[in-house]
Amino acid sequence: MSEFHRLFIVAAAVVAPALCIAGSKPDIEKGKATFNVMCSVCHSVQETGGANQGPNLLGLVGRKAGSQPDFTMYSEALKSSGITWSKKALDKFLVNPGEKVPGTLMPMQIPDDKMRADVVAYLATLKGEKKHAAEQTDANQAAADETAADHSAADESAADQSAADQTAASN
Ligand code: HEC
Repeated sequence: MSEFHRLFIVAAAVVAPALCIAGSKPDIEKGKATFNVMCSVCHSVQETGGANQGPNLLGLVGRKAGSQPDFTMYSEALKSSGITWSKKALDKFLVNPGEKVPGTLMPMQIPDDKMRADVVAYLATLKGEKKHAAEQTDANQAAADETAADHSAADESAADQSAADQTAASN
């Protein structure tokens, strides 16, 4: 093997993995793991219960900043920022929230591009929305009553029930 070949192989071995990392797609599982460590103390992504230091982040993408109805401690800065959360907007915000929205109470920065892309990809998978207090109680009750039942079925029937309750109440 010539010296050139040897060098080429060494160079390829060093460069190829680096290219792979740079070009790789965001890793949702990694994003979720990072979220659980860095964000879940303050942010719930569950339909019921969970952390409440920060707003629930279910259904975040597509929502206006500062508009999660159950969270009452939003800063004026975030509410009046005019941002609607897209992946791009989240990416810009999470580098340094206080720089993008001066006065925001959101303290956590993710300066690392790859880590941030993973977290944003994970956030974008969080569809649905947090249920309101009355529905939560029903859902918990239904879950307790039917421990064996499939959770989403229990939640749905609880939601139907509370919709029915509301109709009954307003009639
Ligand atoms: C110490 C608590 C805390 C931690 C940790 C935290 N946040 Fe927050 N976050 C908040 C608070 C409080 C707000 C509301 C900010 C405001 O009103 O200015 C917020 C707001 C947000 C918003 C805007 C939500 C909306 O409804 O407009 C996003 C997105 C967000 N945080 C993402 C994250 C991510 C991702 C992480 C982890 C990297 C994280 N946060 C870690 C407390 C926290």
